[in-house]
Amino acid sequence: MPKNSIRYAPLLDKITDADTASAHIQDGTNVFISGFTAGYPKLIPQALVRRAEKGERFRINLFAGASTGDAVDGSLAEAGLVAWRRPYMSNRTMRTRINNEEIRFKDDHLSRLSAQVRDGGWGRADVAVVEAAAITEKGHLIPTMSVGNTPTYVREAEKIIIEISSEPPDLEGIHDIFIPEDPPYRMPIPIYRSGDRIGKPFIEMDPEKVVAILLSREEDSCAVFTEPNDVSRRIAAHILDFIAHEIRRDRMPPSLPWQSGVGDVANAVLTGFLENDFFQTIDIYSEVLQDAVLDLIDMGKVRAASGSAMTLSHKARERFFNELYRYKEKVVLRPVEISNSPEVVRRLGVIAINTAIEVDIYGHVNSTHVMGSQLMNGIGGSGDFLRNGALSFIVTPSTAKGGKISAIVPMVSHVDHNEHSVDVIVTEQGLVDTRPLTPRQVAEAVIKKCAHPEYRDLLWDYYQQAIRASGGHEPHILSEAFRFHERFMATGDMKAR
Ligand code: COA
Repeated sequence: MPKNSIRYAPLLDKITDADTASAHIQDGTNVFISGFTAGYPKLIPQALVRRAEKGERFRINLFAGASTGDAVDGSLAEAGLVAWRRPYMSNRTMRTRINNEEIRFKDDHLSRLSAQVRDGGWGRADVAVVEAAAITEKGHLIPTMSVGNTPTYVREAEKIIIEISSEPPDLEGIHDIFIPEDPPYRMPIPIYRSGDRIGKPFIEMDPEKVVAILLSREEDSCAVFTEPNDVSRRIAAHILDFIAHEIRRDRMPPSLPWQSGVGDVANAVLTGFLENDFFQTIDIYSEVLQDAVLDLIDMGKVRAASGSAMTLSHKARERFFNELYRYKEKVVLRPVEISNSPEVVRRLGVIAINTAIEVDIYGHVNSTHVMGSQLMNGIGGSGDFLRNGALSFIVTPSTAKGGKISAIVPMVSHVDHNEHSVDVIVTEQGLVDTRPLTPRQVAEAVIKKCAHPEYRDLLWDYYQQAIRASGGHEPHILSEAFRFHERFMATGDMKAR
């Protein structure tokens, strides 16, 4: 435990063990936890699972910032302890239980959630369980590797349980905590550049609400990124070439900040900057900062990187902690309602890059549901950025499941983002800038440039038949539009006739 982790003396006598502290959580308790890919509590979830293993029957309503580690979402779902879960998650067991309706789940844009909690939309905030690096002299909290919704959870909760983590060396100063007033009193959020700091370096907390403090040696489970492969490299190259072309032609300023979504493709896009000489320095205004951001900072290519959380591989995390003093000059971690704020994203003119499960020939996007029904993870911040970015890219490998699924389909089986929010569609096959095109031109270009060659004829046939059968602005044959999906569900291959 780093010295001076608890600098507010009156709270020292709240130090206890996880089993004792977990008694504040009972059947039906609304539990609001810190955590946004990282920075989630570990000891209380373990204590809850121990209680279940001893035969106690109870279920909690679990609210986080976004996804947490397997130690939380995985083990609580496995133990059957979760009645409700909100918002975005990415754990397999939890996903299965949500799809089986054993866990209730409601998805929403991440930027909206803190305000919904403040106005009571998620019910009473019974207990907040938050991981912290330290408690300040005045009894406020220094978060760890994420901020997410924690400032609001701490403000709204009736009781607070804190897990003081021994892991991060000295994160103080990296966070920028600002909770906007709610309408009708909301003022502009005064961020004009990615690195602007507008709040305090700690989360304000009423120490009277703290019921327990735990000392934790548990670590976040780290992200595992696969090295960029041919597909993700080609997607990254299409995007960077396109932007460089737009800048050279004076169609966009060279200084717009970048947002890149979650996962390997998103990481690969930022990695693409490492080998690209055109972009000397960039600003990042994103939600989750992944390994590639550290690499870019090391190369001197980042002016400022703003996000709500850092999701790092084990190696990158070590590097980050070892040279924290250097990274702190560049990195700002904010509440997700600020990192994803539509107002700020629109003002800064963010170049937004997010990943889809499937895209249809007219540019509608499904990011969340496989074959229309099965939830994958959730919408996360993709809508916050896509809808409001100055230039919004949607990217996907052109096929999934070894080529048995085309990511370009006649009609998406679920809609998260519509054609009006998506500017550019990219697969490893190619890129289509939809902005100057009519829907029919978009369809032709997407089929020819983005679809995998093995699916082009099938898509083209559908499109031509739709023109003949229905005509109109966006021709479709409603009885045929989901034939690709039906074929896959019947035969395991979208191509089978
Ligand atoms: N049909 C069925 N399954 C598909 C599919 C499709 N069209 N496209 C992808 N998949 C499957 C993959 O096969 C893979 O399955 P597996 O886990 O069983 O191997 C899984 O979806 C993930 O796909 P992958 O190619 O590994 O991409 P990813 O890790 O980049 O995830 C999303 C892609 C869309 C699921 C993910 O980006 C996401 O959840 N996005 C929504 C939230 C978001 O964009 N947040 C960022 C905002 S800042």
